[in-house]
Amino acid sequence: MFERKPWAEPYKIKVVETVKVTDREHRLKVIKEAGWNTFLLKSEDVYIDLLTDSGTNAMSDYQWAGMMLGDEAYAGSKNFYYLEANIQKYYGYKYIVPTHQGRGAEHMLSKAMIKPGQFVAGNMYFTTTRLHQELAGGTFVDVIIDEAHDPAVLHPFKGNVDIGKFEALIKKVGAANVAYITVGAPVNMAGGQPVSMANMKAVSKLAHDNGIKVVLDATRNIENAYFIQQREEGYKNKTVAEIHKEFCALSDAATMSAKKDLYVNIGGFVACNDWDLFEELRNMVVIYEGLHTYGGLAGRDMEAMARGLEEAIQDECIAFRVKQVEYLGNMLIEAGVPVVRPIGGHAVFLDAKAFYAHLPQLQFPAQKLAADLYVESGVRAMERGVVSAGRNKETGENNLPKLELVRLTFPRRVYTQSHIDIVAYNVIELFNKRKEAKGLKMIYEPNYLRFFQARFEEMV
Ligand code: F0G
Repeated sequence: MFERKPWAEPYKIKVVETVKVTDREHRLKVIKEAGWNTFLLKSEDVYIDLLTDSGTNAMSDYQWAGMMLGDEAYAGSKNFYYLEANIQKYYGYKYIVPTHQGRGAEHMLSKAMIKPGQFVAGNMYFTTTRLHQELAGGTFVDVIIDEAHDPAVLHPFKGNVDIGKFEALIKKVGAANVAYITVGAPVNMAGGQPVSMANMKAVSKLAHDNGIKVVLDATRNIENAYFIQQREEGYKNKTVAEIHKEFCALSDAATMSAKKDLYVNIGGFVACNDWDLFEELRNMVVIYEGLHTYGGLAGRDMEAMARGLEEAIQDECIAFRVKQVEYLGNMLIEAGVPVVRPIGGHAVFLDAKAFYAHLPQLQFPAQKLAADLYVESGVRAMERGVVSAGRNKETGENNLPKLELVRLTFPRRVYTQSHIDIVAYNVIELFNKRKEAKGLKMIYEPNYLRFFQARFEEMV
């Protein structure tokens, strides 16, 4: 009767939120009003929201119960000390400064660690990370392996740093001119692709031999640890928690958007092992975020983060998360829809260059595909292509990334397998009539992080 052993969500539902099904005519009207940008849609017009996994998670009863224990003192909230202890326990860093979200951490760390004119190496850019590095006077240099830029190539650790490229950068500019290397694990913009432990060890050794610090973007590092457990020799008998801590120990500092891995709606932190850096960050946080024991968060938010971490780090929790993403990915692969492979940890990425092969990159195929999917089905996704890549900070030209993707991102514990089936069905329907799609023209372009607010018109 069953083709495969059934599996199901490792939770049951206690509170529900009604979703609205709209008709195509309404969706076409509102996407035009939104300038063909899914970020500018109202969430009440969305049926299944796969825009992002950031802050969109469903918290557990354990987390909600913790919210009632919020200690909303201005200074020294007990929730902060609990969070600090949990981060020390599961991540292993000595010093923690809370921030309102990931980019608050990136802002301060970039300012504290980059001297104007320095270079920052990284395994593919992330939008906010690179912008904060640039605003601090740095120049980002991509040192990810070439395979990461090819959606079809199969590689178990497609997020790996190319050690040769990193070494070449150090030789070219001199170690003193490399502020640090930032390792994102897994790599969001490459399709949620993981970094192996062996690679992280090699990065850490090369960096430290040259006196360069390693900064981990730990945003989804629990997912990365799960991939190591599943794919890397020697790790299958270790728990995700053990692997995660071993990985973090290879870095000197971390920035974190808790809105992802930690199952909360808001929160972040920056952590490090170096007292001087900590002092600087702790000084800075009072200017930009709030006192060093709340960093822009309510006490209850810190409690939810601390408890979310305890749940997120469990093997069953993370295994389900990644398998749910794979479930959608495999359905699309079977139907011949071009997606980034292997399937990543937090999202399925449609390869818009192959999907809308007739549209040139500067007609924004990924932007259009995300919008068309919304119009056809009410499913909201996000562009991760030329719009997200922005412009070259020297020449002002559009950056033309090899990857022109649409991200179907999974909020944690929010949607069921039936929702995922609906998403698969609609993507396949759209794929079957892909040749009808028209491109877009950009009619409004913000100066920073343009993908959030840019507006477009459909070409005639
Ligand atoms: N680093 C990574 C890898 C991220 O994915 C994000 C956010 C950040 C840093 C910044 O954190 O949003 O809390 O300020 N990614 C979201 C996304 C926006 O949809 O992928 P933040």
